[in-house]
Amino acid sequence: MSANQIKVFCPATIANISCGFDVLGVALDSVGDQMIVRKTLEKGIRITKLEGQDLPMKTLQNVAGVAGLALLKESDYQGGFDIEIYKKIKAGSGIGSSAASSTGAVWAMNELLGKPFSALQLVKFAMEGELLASGVAHADNVAPALFGGFTLVRSYDPLDVVTIPSPSELFATVIHPQIEVKTSDSRKILKTTISLKDAIKQWGNVGGLVAGLFTSDYKLIGRSLEDHIVEPIRSILIPGFDDVKKAAIEAGALGCGISGSGPSIFAFSKGEVKAKKVAAAMQEIYQEIGIDYDVHVSGINMDGVRKI
Ligand code: HSE
Repeated sequence: MSANQIKVFCPATIANISCGFDVLGVALDSVGDQMIVRKTLEKGIRITKLEGQDLPMKTLQNVAGVAGLALLKESDYQGGFDIEIYKKIKAGSGIGSSAASSTGAVWAMNELLGKPFSALQLVKFAMEGELLASGVAHADNVAPALFGGFTLVRSYDPLDVVTIPSPSELFATVIHPQIEVKTSDSRKILKTTISLKDAIKQWGNVGGLVAGLFTSDYKLIGRSLEDHIVEPIRSILIPGFDDVKKAAIEAGALGCGISGSGPSIFAFSKGEVKAKKVAAAMQEIYQEIGIDYDVHVSGINMDGVRKI
């Protein structure tokens, strides 16, 4: 491929990771979107192909288009870009579909322009795509999609993203019941205030999870996968959530919760064998209640978006 064109893989991500609503996220190895981005003499951004999902192709209605325009606005580049998107991540599944498209687009453009922008600037551009998709410019999917591994958005203003190591034997199981939950809808049902009692439990768990990831303390990671604020409200939108969670824990998962804004449910396990056993247990619940599903067992993606 010439330097005027690049093909990229951008990973799916699990945001929130139970206790870290809007601040924690992790990139997955086994699922992600592919994109081809091409420099053009014509100014602006065009989505020239979109395969795999029924999503808008108009630049201002497409998350990759909007994120790309945010980058162009800050650039002195006089041309534009054509984008082909090959979606492997289902929209509204809760594993960072919009973040993969936004992040892949801006990362690819930055490469083609000779990397004028920092990683943090790219996160900001990609957040414009999240704003379009969900009504809020959150970074907990785009940061891990860009950096790989686990990330913590320590602050939104100013934006401060911290990368966190991943224990080598940590695997994720993600099950996606085939219903669509729009992030914008699942944000509207949340309360805007929380009690001090719940906040204490939640920040204890965020600290515990980060400490567990740094020290590869799998039991601490498991104990910290609790969400006292968002999960009790959002889980109502997910059929069979309590049973799937119970089955995952009984099968040996370290912990289990809602992936992003749902409806996907994630579990972490120590080792791939255990993660597969957990997948089988989770699937059994959806088979019993007659709901179609997709399931992924994945290692942690440590690279983030990359050229392929
Ligand atoms: N933190 C966001 C939310 C992630 O839970 O709404 C959306 O995938």
